[in-house]
Amino acid sequence: MHITMIGSGYVGLVSGVCLADFGHDVICVDKDSAKIEALKSGEIPIFEAGLKTLVAENVRAGRLSFSTVVKESVAKSDVVFIAVGTPSRRGDGHADLSYVYAAAREIAEHITGFTVVVTKSTVPVGTGDEVERIIREANPSADVAVVSNPEFLREGAAIEDFKRPDRIVIGLSDDRARSVMTEVYRPLYLNQAPLLFTERRTSELIKYAANAFLAMKITFINEMADLCEKVGANVQEVSRGIGLDGRIGSKFLHAGPGYGGSCFPKDTMALAKTAQDYDSPVRLIEATVSINESRKRAMGRKVIAALGGEVRGKTIGVLGLTFKPNTDDMRDSPAVSIIQTLVDAGARVVGYDPEGMENARKVIDAIDYAEDAYDVAKDADGIVIVTEWDQFRALDFARLKSIMKAPVLVDLRNIYRREEIAKFGFAYSSVGRPAMDIPAATEH
Ligand SMILES: NC(=O)c1ccc[n+]([C@@H]2O[C@H](COP(=O)([O-])OP(=O)(O)OC[C@H]3O[C@@H](n4cnc5c(N)ncnc54)[C@H](O)[C@@H]3O)[C@@H](O)[C@H]2O)c1
Repeated sequence: MHITMIGSGYVGLVSGVCLADFGHDVICVDKDSAKIEALKSGEIPIFEAGLKTLVAENVRAGRLSFSTVVKESVAKSDVVFIAVGTPSRRGDGHADLSYVYAAAREIAEHITGFTVVVTKSTVPVGTGDEVERIIREANPSADVAVVSNPEFLREGAAIEDFKRPDRIVIGLSDDRARSVMTEVYRPLYLNQAPLLFTERRTSELIKYAANAFLAMKITFINEMADLCEKVGANVQEVSRGIGLDGRIGSKFLHAGPGYGGSCFPKDTMALAKTAQDYDSPVRLIEATVSINESRKRAMGRKVIAALGGEVRGKTIGVLGLTFKPNTDDMRDSPAVSIIQTLVDAGARVVGYDPEGMENARKVIDAIDYAEDAYDVAKDADGIVIVTEWDQFRALDFARLKSIMKAPVLVDLRNIYRREEIAKFGFAYSSVGRPAMDIPAATEH
């Protein structure tokens, strides 16, 4: 099967290479010529484990190539995926669909033979209707079916998620398109991954509902964490206690500095906007958006409190800048707001991230950057763990204490326990755990 992937960013590149790995012929297109040149020379523009090798293997096998032009690839494709960005529209929080519609316009005139155009980007309900309208207007004779197939992969585990998804959601009403999409995903179907066929609008909404639910779950446990701090309870035990209930589930119940990343912030906001437009407001999601937004700066204030309430002239080291580990993505990372709060309060901030430094420099310029965790800690009045990279999970606290001005650790990811840190003479504060760690609840 011949496939064109329009947009070779996180989703387009990972989806494209995985589809090639299934045996399809895939051309990944991007209008960013520097990105395409890099890909052609074997460089991968994002940090994602296993991606470089998988791209190289499929390029070598002749199943994957890269281009900046859509013409030839679309003309010979059975399926054209649109995987371009849908960021928040500046000013109002709706999804900015200009890239999706531009892609639809660009491909329309090159469509020949029956072609399935698949929107993989996260798009509000009704976007597929507009994509179809644009294509039919530009090319009235096109034999085309427009399908919704949202992507659920997570950065940091993207290949695994694409190849072993919990489900594949496909929204369509055309039987020929259904056969084509079944063929596209045949290897996964044989792997028992359920293909969920539904109407296009329902499929579009499923993606937003999934992200909004997960964002809400995180926000719920974050509020529980705040309450735990007030009442002397332990949020990790609360998470475990409720997560073992099969109806609730244990995932996305880790209290922390608030969700960030390239999806949850913009998608929760876009869903809230769509719902308002349809006079059916989703108040739980509106509350989620606003609670999460205020939480990030509140975490900055928590750090200030841990350093005695005054940080002017103090040096604070920040460990982890990306919105989560195993990615170099800085989009909407909580670190940005936390650091801004510290800088606004007069602190000097030194940051380090294992993979995100290059992207961090583009969005945070008011800080110094260090070489590693110990470089961050040098002469610091306190250090803060913002992102739970593995290399921050076994820090040498004796060494840290010997180089810091004051031994203060704020652990916004709860990766340590107070008693193990106290042994080294550190003042320790975390999220939603009492001043003294209580013994773990025993299971019977
Ligand atoms: N990143 C994730 O983890 C993730 C997960 C699931 C879904 N999504 C959704 O997938 C979509 C893409 O996200 P992303 O993170 O891959 O974005 P991205 O910004 O990493 O990549 C988008 C790419 O599309 C290219 N592009 C834009 N217009 C183009 C055009 N007309 N022709 C060719 N290329 C074009 C851009 O140059 C860019 O390289 C979004 O809707 C996002 O919400 C993202």
